[in-house]
Order: sequence, then structure tokens, then C-alpha cells
Amino acid sequence: MKAITSVFLASALLLASCGKDGDSETQLDGKPVLSARVQAETRSRIEFARHVKPILEERCVWCHDGSDKKMPYKLTNREEAFKNKRIVPGKPNQSLFYLAASGQHPTLKMPAVGIKIAPSDLEVLERWISAGAVWPEGAAGQLKGR
Ligand code: HEC
Repeated sequence: MKAITSVFLASALLLASCGKDGDSETQLDGKPVLSARVQAETRSRIEFARHVKPILEERCVWCHDGSDKKMPYKLTNREEAFKNKRIVPGKPNQSLFYLAASGQHPTLKMPAVGIKIAPSDLEVLERWISAGAVWPEGAAGQLKGR
């Protein structure tokens, strides 16, 4: 079992190091967190708990959960996530959160290391911010890393 894991890790690293540009060195393509059927629902309605939370918990919060004191950004609740206009409701392209996750920011490419967000999941995040970035207060809006 251990040997299989090492072989997998070695090939993952090898694949990652074959990236065409420096930015992809430590990033691997990821599968969508949302199924195609669930993703399709977001064309007519977006629910934080069903459509947004699973993506963030799988792809972002395990780093941005506040356990690393040096980490500048906590994505575990609404207040922290929206601080310093990192999420600007209605304006994905002015939201550092979205620019970083979509690779459009000149230097900030998220995730810093690991599995990249799939294009269909990214589309959901864009729709969600465009539609007003509704993120409930209280327990419903509490996220935890995987
Ligand atoms: C492997 C850990 C990791 C993952 C996963 C990750 N990040 Fe980050 N993130 C970092 C680190 C480290 C920094 C600080 C790096 C820097 O400032 O260059 C950072 C910085 C950021 C910042 C800038 C915060 C600020 O104001 O300085 C944003 C926004 C961000 N991440 C969003 C995201 C989003 C959205 C996701 C999910 C798609 C994500 N991150 C996934 C590690 C991670």
C-alpha cells in the first residue's frame, strides 16, 4: 500500500514538474467538486450550502482555516471571507478571491499548492459572486476544511 502511494506521489510530482510554465509547477488539475447535474442547477438558482460551500471546503478552506497564523486569509465564515473587499458582491473581477482562484491575478494563483479548481466549479463561483455572493451568517455559513 505504501509503495503504491509513493509511486502515485512520484508520478504526481513528475507530472506537476512538467508544467509548461512556472505557475503550474505545484498545481495539478482537479476534478469538479460539483457533478454536472448539480452544476447545471446554478444556471437558475444558487444556494450557498449546496453549490458553493462544497467547492470552498474541498479546494480552499483546508489551507484558509485559520490554523496557520501566518496565513493572511480565513475563509471559514462570511465576515472573514469578505474582509478587505476580497469578495465584492456582484463583481467577480474586482474580487481578489475570484481573481486568485481563476488565475487572473498577476501574482496570486490559488491554490498556492495542490489541486486546481476545475473550470466548471470556477464558473459556479463566478455566478455566485455575480448574483450577489449570498453567504449566510451563523452556523449555516461556517466552513471547515476537508
Ligand atoms: C495549499 C494551500 C492553499 C490552498 C488550497 C488555497 N490557498 Fe489561498 N493562499 C495560500 C497562501 C500560502 C497564501 C498567501 C500567499 C501569498 O500571499 O502569496 C494565500 C493567499 C490567498 C489570497 C490572498 C489573501 C490576501 O489578502 O493576501 C486569496 C484571496 C486566496 N488565497 C484565495 C484562495 C481561494 C479562493 C482558494 C481556493 C480556490 C485558495 N486560496 C486555496 C494557500 C492556499
